[in-house]
Amino acid sequence: MKRTAMILTTLALLAANCLAAENGAKAYQQYCAKCHGKTGDGKMGPVIRGRSDIPEIILRGGLKKSPHSRPIAGVTEEEARAIARFLK
Ligand code: HEC
Repeated sequence: MKRTAMILTTLALLAANCLAAENGAKAYQQYCAKCHGKTGDGKMGPVIRGRSDIPEIILRGGLKKSPHSRPIAGVTEEEARAIARFLK
């Protein structure tokens, strides 16, 4: 019994992880890819792979230049974290 519960918990966690990864990829394509390229490798915007400050930049802005002088409109905190995981 215990073992079944453990297996089920593991499966649920795996499924949740997959979903989050998929959401990250989707939200990234929707909000970021047109400027940062399909995988964060840069286009008219710089390369943004492997950074730890992605959620803050999306949600709070704070960079000098547009569009990141302000938060990116319409991105939820959950999506911002999913995007950050996608770009790791
Ligand atoms: C309209 C084009 C555009 C969109 C859309 C956009 N960015 Fe950017 N991004 C830029 C530009 C241009 C810069 C450089 C700004 C600067 O130097 O101040 C930048 C800078 C950044 C930086 C900092 C890079 C550095 O080297 O300091 C991060 C991180 C970033 N963007 C992440 C994102 C994410 C994540 C999204 C999607 C939610 C996104 N951006 C959407 C154009 C865009």
